[in-house]
Amino acid sequence: MKVMETELVKNLEPYAPGEQPQEAGFTKLNTNENPYPPAPEVVLAIQTLDANDMRKYPDPVCGKLRRILSEKHNVTPDWIFAGNGSDEVLRLIFQAYLAPGDVLGITDPTYSLYPVLARMFGAKVKIFDLGPEGELPRNPEISSCKIFALANPNPPYGVFYPLSEVEKLACSSPSTLFIIDEAYVDFARGDSLDIIHRCENALISRSFSKSFSLAGMRVGYTVGPSPLIRNLYKIKDSYNVNSASQAAACAALHAAEYYKEISRKIIEDRIFVTRELRKLGFKAYDSEGNFVFAESGDGKTLYEKLKAKKILVRYFDLPRLKKGVRITIGTHEEMLSLVETLRNLI
Ligand SMILES: Cc1ncc(COP(=O)(O)O)c(C=O)c1O
Repeated sequence: MKVMETELVKNLEPYAPGEQPQEAGFTKLNTNENPYPPAPEVVLAIQTLDANDMRKYPDPVCGKLRRILSEKHNVTPDWIFAGNGSDEVLRLIFQAYLAPGDVLGITDPTYSLYPVLARMFGAKVKIFDLGPEGELPRNPEISSCKIFALANPNPPYGVFYPLSEVEKLACSSPSTLFIIDEAYVDFARGDSLDIIHRCENALISRSFSKSFSLAGMRVGYTVGPSPLIRNLYKIKDSYNVNSASQAAACAALHAAEYYKEISRKIIEDRIFVTRELRKLGFKAYDSEGNFVFAESGDGKTLYEKLKAKKILVRYFDLPRLKKGVRITIGTHEEMLSLVETLRNLI
């Protein structure tokens, strides 16, 4: 007799991550990685990792990392949970708070992992359409949602929603767990951190993958009221963040000046590319992430033409996104080469 998967898994469509080509020679502008290396002290922390730290299990609750983060965010460590990338943190939040039949509210477009996670736990997805420039809908009714996940800045357009707007929405339904995914917040003009002190139903999620250049180390965290955080510890793997990743994240938090400078360069190049794309006739959204969404009418053809020139961007085969591609901001040289390639293609 055949071993059968559960009904839920049978019907599940997995999340499709961006390509990681094994072949050399590509300019990778498809997964919003940081083009600059981690700070030298981060590399040193990994290189000098004690053999004893490799032999032993890591700190199961990321004590040192959470202590540093709690100082950074002015909260106590019991307001912080760290995980194996913010994807793991999001998954645990969904697992802890979504029961089969519950509703997850999301915007369209947004980070395409959210609906995949919801379905994994048997939840339904309610979609709230963004305005033509990526604006939030006016007074959306979110009280039927058990969780509402809002990325801010919100990929792939990269629109940033000011604190007042996010807070109004978060506080509009106290029984809805309101997740503010700030994976790209260091490239934006502000953040929504204050909300966690005023709305008992809000959690902020952050990542070391983007502004800290540590996508390969897999570290993310959530910060918010301890009664919400507490439940995540009940369902996590015993040792969910490895020793090297904990050491790297701690060192990164001590290199603020370095990271401020590379984020500044990325923002400068985002402004440059947005302007150049518009000059070439593309619709380029006002992004506050480390990426820009450019529409030309036929995103797939543009993606393929750029791939033929060894430039990888991200194409999403989704109704609202088919018209364009998402371009990660690389180094200035990479951006000059992208603009030159586009000019020749048009
Ligand atoms: C909005 C958003 N949140 C979270 C993530 C995942 O981050 P991490 O690498 O920390 O899992 C991404 C990755 O692209 C993202 O776009």
